[in-house]
Amino acid sequence: MEQSPGRVLVVVPTYNERDNLPMITARLREAVPEAHLLVADDASPDGTGQVADDLAAADPHIHVLHRPRKEGLGAAYIAGFRWGLAEGFDVLVEMDADGSHRPEELPKLLHVLADGADLVIGSRWVPGGKVVNWPWSREFLSRGANLYTRMSLGVPVRDATAGFRAYRAATLRKIGLDDVESQGYCFQVDLTLRTLRHGLRVSEVPITFVERTAGSSKMSRTVIAEALWRVTVWGVTGLPGRLRRPR
Ligand code: GDD
Ligand code: MN
Repeated sequence: MEQSPGRVLVVVPTYNERDNLPMITARLREAVPEAHLLVADDASPDGTGQVADDLAAADPHIHVLHRPRKEGLGAAYIAGFRWGLAEGFDVLVEMDADGSHRPEELPKLLHVLADGADLVIGSRWVPGGKVVNWPWSREFLSRGANLYTRMSLGVPVRDATAGFRAYRAATLRKIGLDDVESQGYCFQVDLTLRTLRHGLRVSEVPITFVERTAGSSKMSRTVIAEALWRVTVWGVTGLPGRLRRPR
């Protein structure tokens, strides 16, 4: 019998997403009305923080975490998770602000979590998963990053870099956030690895990732370089030996 997943907080990191935020919040509020949403904004120069404040003022399910400077996706998520854990949420969701992660698919992730998974990843690279409107260069980068991650870390996950996920609060408490150093997108691989290392259950569900139509990606050479060296270091320092397959 499926359990209720409990109180859900969706953390949405933003950097210059003024034109996307109203759309994504409206879609999420409609798709999963009981969920709360926390915008973690890194003082976006385009005024996203003000847009978020206006949305929050009109809806008690919307909250805003203003951060003083751009510190990367990983750092924003950690701050958002800390906020959510302190507020007593049972489930912490990661979702992009640009519409690539469709809020309409969140119930699917939450069902699998309620069924017993400790982390559910919305995956582009399992059967049924897909990407819409990506240039071949982005697909190459994502597939390459996942292949490299699987080969160097032995992670039995098809989409370890995916950014649409649902964690149980208990999972985050168990793996601990205090010593996470990943600042950028390799944060995703980092937390996947930590979850597996603790013997917790990771499930992937297929999603359709739709490339943004407004604003621009914050993927950069710095982000790629950080991911490459961290994954390599994790690989050579033998983390895979301590990995257990998910049950
Ligand atoms: N607060 C904050 N600070 N938010 C950020 C930062 C930052 O430094 N960098 C990016 N974001 C926000 C963006 O505003 C957006 O809401 C979300 O994080 C994702 O950023 P994008 O720039 O749209 O990422 P992407 O589409 O290139 O990458 C997506 O796919 C990757 C794997 O292919 C994301 O889902 C990544 O998490 C994922 O690893
Ligand atoms: Mn994006």
